[in-house]
Amino acid sequence: MFVVIGATGSVGRDVVKLLLAAGEEVAAVSRDPAADLPGGAQVVNGDPSRPDSLTALPDGVDAVLLSPRAVRGAAAELLSLAAARGARRVVVLSAATVEHPAGHRRFADEFRAVEQAARDSGLDWTFLRCADFAANALAWAPQIRATGVVRGAYGDAATSPIHQRDIAEVAVRALADPEHAGHAYVLTGPQSLDQRDKVHLIGEAIGRELSFQELEPEQVRQAMLAQGLAEDLPDRLLGSLADYANTPGPTTDTVEQLLGRPALTFAAWATDNIAAFASPARS
Ligand SMILES: NC(=O)c1ccc[n+]([C@@H]2O[C@H](COP(=O)([O-])OP(=O)(O)OC[C@H]3O[C@@H](n4cnc5c(N)ncnc54)[C@H](OP(=O)(O)O)[C@@H]3O)[C@@H](O)[C@H]2O)c1
Repeated sequence: MFVVIGATGSVGRDVVKLLLAAGEEVAAVSRDPAADLPGGAQVVNGDPSRPDSLTALPDGVDAVLLSPRAVRGAAAELLSLAAARGARRVVVLSAATVEHPAGHRRFADEFRAVEQAARDSGLDWTFLRCADFAANALAWAPQIRATGVVRGAYGDAATSPIHQRDIAEVAVRALADPEHAGHAYVLTGPQSLDQRDKVHLIGEAIGRELSFQELEPEQVRQAMLAQGLAEDLPDRLLGSLADYANTPGPTTDTVEQLLGRPALTFAAWATDNIAAFASPARS
């Protein structure tokens, strides 16, 4: 039995599907009692950041996938609960910034704290230190649909965004195979792309000319706050972009080495997500 914390996130959902397809038993944890999760998963309702709410977590657990955003400061407590239910392994969805610092240190420290809790838990651990998810580009979808122009700061900021399916496939291997214990993998996409490149590739996928319009960082900050986004989000996003505009994020071939096939490109991700970016047909 595998426990997926963050099962409704982009990676967690793919991990649940892959495990079920392999015939494994899955306990998918969500705060939402009505969470739309793949049929066949045992939905465990509760808040992973309050492990005492996870009373329905079953016995007979082999391994746990941990999403730092879902577990927040409660990783140690949650892993001790998982160990009591039989878990021997934990896989942490960590971030490349732990090893290749970019952005405000406090955000990397949140991931470091979850990694440390995993090291201290007595379970075998594997850290997946992921580059920015390609799926972060979904935040551009409303602007692309409405205007074809993405407005943002630091157009030169370059990273190698990773497709969530690659992370999910690596996660499933690390959950199932003790050979990955004690490894911290930096997982990235195959290609360094700045923000203009990403917008261009989405345009190619949907067959529409798109452009990136550079704004001052302060304009972006104010616009994000005016939209009611969480207060730490501008710092999280703009801090990283500022650093990636100076020094591109890492590019590794770890996905290819682990999966035996090339990492999926951002262009492939954009093609998989055409529906999110395409303008609704006019009648
Ligand atoms: N996006 C990136 O570029 C990036 C890069 C490196 C690492 N990561 C990490 O990778 C992990 C997975 O990312 P993801 O995009 O697949 O999933 P996600 O949307 O960040 O979060 C997964 C799930 O966690 C729960 N959750 C979200 N915010 C929460 C909160 N404030 N308190 C409690 N629960 C919360 C939600 O589940 P329910 O509502 O169902 O409970 C959500 O579906 C995250 O921990 C993220 O920090 C992301």
